[in-house]
Amino acid sequence: MKAIAVYPGQLNSVHLEEIPEPTLDQVPGGKGVLVRVLKVGVDATDREINDALYGNAPPGDKHLVLGHESFGVVEAVGPEVRRVKPGDYVTATVRRPGQSIYDQIGTCDMTSEETYYERGINLLHGFLTEKFVEDEEYIVRVPQGLKHLHVLMEPMSCAAKAVEQAFEVQRRMRVWSPRTAFVMGAGQIGLLATLILRLRGLDVYTFARGAAPNLKSDIVTGMEATYVSTSERSVEEVVKEVGKADLIVDATGSSHVAMGSMQYLGLNGVLVWTSITGGEHSTSLESDRINLEWVLGNKLLLGSVNANRGHFESGIRDLALGEVMYPGVLCRILTHPVDGLENFQQMMELLEDPSALKVYVNVSDE
Ligand code: BGC
Ligand code: ZN
Repeated sequence: MKAIAVYPGQLNSVHLEEIPEPTLDQVPGGKGVLVRVLKVGVDATDREINDALYGNAPPGDKHLVLGHESFGVVEAVGPEVRRVKPGDYVTATVRRPGQSIYDQIGTCDMTSEETYYERGINLLHGFLTEKFVEDEEYIVRVPQGLKHLHVLMEPMSCAAKAVEQAFEVQRRMRVWSPRTAFVMGAGQIGLLATLILRLRGLDVYTFARGAAPNLKSDIVTGMEATYVSTSERSVEEVVKEVGKADLIVDATGSSHVAMGSMQYLGLNGVLVWTSITGGEHSTSLESDRINLEWVLGNKLLLGSVNANRGHFESGIRDLALGEVMYPGVLCRILTHPVDGLENFQQMMELLEDPSALKVYVNVSDE
């Protein structure tokens, strides 16, 4: 069967690869789930892998099948599978366990080993193909009523983890009722983080470059958050008006902005970084001032990567709630479909297009 693959480490090596069909008995203990792929989303991580900045092939293979944002339908299950049945819509988690204690308790997103295994990214093949087989442990059911949001499940899980981690670490405060959140960036993670924070009742300011109105500003205001175009109004001006933020989520893909966000965080606040920046940029900082403010203000900087099953499940619940609260808003994120695996070049080109909020491949019809 066909798959979209790259040769990691080789610039712009995206190509169509012929790979063997997977079989249920690849998974021991009768726990295999055979999924027919319907759609797969791609993001900046896929672009960085094709730019040879990131990612590795599985041991023994030259190629890496891309794709970590999966959406499909269950075609067959092994005799011991309980979580899903044929006909169910599903997505799959991305990371697979290594050996650490965190891997062993179902939280491989928090592995304490340097090596991590991620389907479509690092050391494991991804989902940009016709079918895949997985242990039911890594398969998450998608409600029928959310199938129109298909490839958003994985990005949503990452946004859910970022916000949940922030709330989790803020238990240090004994009482924490954040009021103001800043979200840096209105790409998929920024928009989904905006939703999650709105559902938790925060006043959310989402910052992006483009002048409003535009698609991103429409989506942000559609979720009753405030869109701020940084080409029209600086973050400093917003801080003057509403104060520093209790919580900041950076999802810009720019380490410069991620670092710079430190100055907008309020006392006892938490700043979460979510971007994967595979480049080699450097930036200079007013380090004395930041160090002083950070210490005097008990501020916290938190990195958040990937997501485990629990984050997929809570992310899916928030997507469902988001649909009820803000009907018709979320599907507007899904801007740029590509028809068929053979159009992999178009997929890569669209990833360079700043107007493409979400690029995804229609792999097969139902
Ligand atoms: C993926 C995550 C992954 C991260 C680092 C992101 O694009 O969505 O699942 O952990 O890249 O490889
Ligand atoms: Zn991703």
